[in-house]
Amino acid sequence: MEKIIILDFGSQYTQLIARRVRELNVYCEIHPFNKAPQMDESVKGVILSGSPFSVRDENAPKPDLSAFKGQLPLLGICYGAQYLASAFGGEVQPAASREYGRAMLTVGDKEDALMKNLPATTQVWMSHGDTITSVPASYRLIAGTEDVKVAAFHIEGEQTWGIQFHPEVYHSTDGTQLLKNFVVGVCGCKQDWTSESFVESTVEELRKKLGDDKVVLGLSGGVDSSVAAVLLHKAIGHNLYCIFVDSGLLRKNEFDEVLESYKNMGLNVKGVKAGDKFLGDLAGVTDPEKKRKIIGRDFVEVFNEEAQQIKDVKWLAQGTIYPDVIESSSVNGPSVTIKSHHNVGGLPKEMNLKIVEPLRLLFKDEVRRVGRSMGISENLIGRHPFPGPGLAIRILGDITPEKVEILQNVDKIYIDSLREAGLYDQVWQAGAILLPVKSVGVMGDERTYESCVALRAVTSTDGMTADWVHLPYEFLMNVSNEIINKVRGVNRVVYDISSKPPATIEWE
Ligand code: XMP
Repeated sequence: MEKIIILDFGSQYTQLIARRVRELNVYCEIHPFNKAPQMDESVKGVILSGSPFSVRDENAPKPDLSAFKGQLPLLGICYGAQYLASAFGGEVQPAASREYGRAMLTVGDKEDALMKNLPATTQVWMSHGDTITSVPASYRLIAGTEDVKVAAFHIEGEQTWGIQFHPEVYHSTDGTQLLKNFVVGVCGCKQDWTSESFVESTVEELRKKLGDDKVVLGLSGGVDSSVAAVLLHKAIGHNLYCIFVDSGLLRKNEFDEVLESYKNMGLNVKGVKAGDKFLGDLAGVTDPEKKRKIIGRDFVEVFNEEAQQIKDVKWLAQGTIYPDVIESSSVNGPSVTIKSHHNVGGLPKEMNLKIVEPLRLLFKDEVRRVGRSMGISENLIGRHPFPGPGLAIRILGDITPEKVEILQNVDKIYIDSLREAGLYDQVWQAGAILLPVKSVGVMGDERTYESCVALRAVTSTDGMTADWVHLPYEFLMNVSNEIINKVRGVNRVVYDISSKPPATIEWE
């Protein structure tokens, strides 16, 4: 499979470069700058990312490029361009004026392969404190802005370019065209990496790798594990054993509904109702981290017990996706965040399971596209993210079956209303939180002293940052009325208007 290699110098935009390249239906991989892969014939070109470092820093990344520079097409972006300049006789200095944000690029050489089909002037996005002040004689300048003379250069006699702006960000109007010029025009990539081709090649690989082996996988009802299951099912059919654990902390009716849709998809899935165990172990526990630990431990116990009943199982499948893979091998070192699907990592050693991760090369939106292309229902694919510990971290304070029921009823009214109002798909994630607060109310002629729930809805692209959604007042009014009228035990509804940071999406 042909690919582009992106060498990561730690820029916040590196993942974005990969996504843009993939949107052109060209497969690419991100590798840390100091761990470049073998440049075999599948590699059609290399991109050097930006970096928080200055090339003038003593400990700035300065890898040896001789394995590919001059032999393969090479594009340096921002730091990548500055390194291509400074390492070969050019000069990089602190910029005299700030070079951040919008700038107008004037194309100097319309015939240059990188500049093809770009308008004479186009908006680009800059983000650097340093600037290239001189380049070696063989570097031909092909575009500049008012402040940045060396906005783009092409090294004569090589297929090497450097650009000091970011074509990958949305605000670079013709950035996609420029990247297309590189990966398609220069590197000659065929643009045949699609969801369908991914499914075809992955299923074939899985068949070869797994043969007649048995594989066990923990389903969560979420997008990643569902798509991973369907891919594996396509490859090995009933040798895939899925386990779906009901912790008693899922949304109302979710376990039965999702289990039913898994079965309709032909998956070999066992549903395990373990709500009593989870709620029993959580009784009286108020500390959020303790709740998480208990739930993680119980999950592993229940999963293990079921997995051990499958004779001769050899593999454990996980729904790991590309951001997790990049994070754990990134320039900045393995991340401290352990994602939910890694909850399954606690199987007994003696089971000696090998790990298979069919989605480890995909971004979330690509997982969704692959799922759609395999005919998984929109209902499963479009689901909001839901935390592994479930409603336990949306019930502040201790958890009781009664509180779970109240929150499930509130949450159902809220989520159903979002769907009915056509708002569900505009929201990244929504949910209700049961607060450890009681307040006075009046219903009919009676004074009440009941619970308060908070509603939360956020927009986000990755859950790392988020903003609250400006839901229409009319909508909030109707939801609030319905909740207070229908859910016994709740007499007050509030709406959370905090962004992340400084707040988080969940309240615990
Ligand atoms: P926060 O609350 O940190 O959440 O802004 C970011 C995203 O992660 C989800 N989340 C979790 N997911 N186990 C999970 O599987 C957890 O313990 C957990 N805590 C938060 C949260 O729902 C949001 O999508």
